[in-house]
Amino acid sequence: MHVLVTGGAGYIGSHTCLSLLESGMDVTVIDNFCNSSPEALQRVQSLTGRSIRVIEADVRDAEALETVFSGPRIDAVIHFAGLKAVGESVAKPMLYYDNNVAGTFTLLQAMQRANVSTLVFSSSATVYGDPAPEHLPLKETAPCGITHSPYATSKWTVERCLADLHAAQPEWRIARLRYFNPVGAHSSGRIGENPSGTPNNLMPFVSQVACGARPKLSIFGDDYPTHDGTGVRDYIHVMDLAEGHVATLKYLASHPQGELLTLNLGTGQGCSVLDVVKTFETASGRPVPYEIVPRRPGDVPAYYADPSQAQKLLHWRATRSLRDMCADTWRWQAANPQGYDHR
Ligand code: NAD
Ligand code: UFG
Repeated sequence: MHVLVTGGAGYIGSHTCLSLLESGMDVTVIDNFCNSSPEALQRVQSLTGRSIRVIEADVRDAEALETVFSGPRIDAVIHFAGLKAVGESVAKPMLYYDNNVAGTFTLLQAMQRANVSTLVFSSSATVYGDPAPEHLPLKETAPCGITHSPYATSKWTVERCLADLHAAQPEWRIARLRYFNPVGAHSSGRIGENPSGTPNNLMPFVSQVACGARPKLSIFGDDYPTHDGTGVRDYIHVMDLAEGHVATLKYLASHPQGELLTLNLGTGQGCSVLDVVKTFETASGRPVPYEIVPRRPGDVPAYYADPSQAQKLLHWRATRSLRDMCADTWRWQAANPQGYDHR
């Protein structure tokens, strides 16, 4: 199978490219490198000993897509390319709708012209909004679509459009994968998450504190209705997530008559901010100083997945522990304190 991976140089994309290559698939990447480095793909190629066809272009560029699809036959597309900073999306909604929604439309039109109708789309648990406690753990059937940011609206809009497309043309094979909180890095320590500037997310912030690049972590609230008062999330190792994409492609390939899949990719385990801090300290052997500060606006107290549907249909499950996630993040952080910019 030859897979086109949009946004393949990014955090989840680079780990998924590695899993695709290791499972014998061929890979073409299209990425504009707005939030990534070509170095990630160099490292994936050296780790796997296989080459990737890399095209530097924007998914909103219809001509560039035409060129990609007129090359070697593409069997399926995994669509990671998009912007993901929730706060930035509030400040720049048009940028997010253009990249995430219009970008997906341009891609779908190019796929249609090229007669490629197998698509895996990166959605997010953010489509569940602020879930009521009785909906935990979240099943795919939980209420969706009451979104709290343009980022979340962009994911939900694309999910809806894909359902409409499949209803009109049921021969399409589409998976809408709702990721919970991806963290960790490949166990080699050669590829990992490479945030620019101050990290928005917990795990990269914790690892930068552990290595001394930042003095302390701010924990956003300790008065939530959770086991220790801090926010609870379903952290999933990025390699488990990557392997979930390979399993999804295999599932879609075995459904030639068409399919619309909607799946949670998570572990089913809720971990608090303090659970992450303590596990990281043990895994790294470094202290992670922190202070409790007020809640971050828009944060949800707790959410975690019911991943049973993905387990049943894909014969896939997340196997790596929180300890693995922290140890692998630390190995990457310690070996690459400046991310990919440090050679
Ligand atoms: P990332 O920013 O590391 O990767 C995205 C990649 O897409 C980058 O390489 C970027 O350069 C590229 N890109 C962005 N806009 C582009 C465009 N218009 N044309 C071509 N390339 C473009 O992000 P990630 O964490 O790897 O996330 C991948 C996908 O998964 C995103 O769609 C994101 O919304 C979704 N997602 C991420 C998380 C998370 O916490 N990381 C959670 C849920 C869903
Ligand atoms: N947190 C801190 N301090 C920090 C960063 C985070 O205490 O410096 C806490 C948050 O309050 C939350 C938990 O750590 O309780 C996780 O926060 P993240 O920012 O790592 O992740 P979120 O669950 O808030 O957001 C993630 C993605 C979003 C996506 C959302 C829902 O980053 O893109 O999941 O899927 F929209």
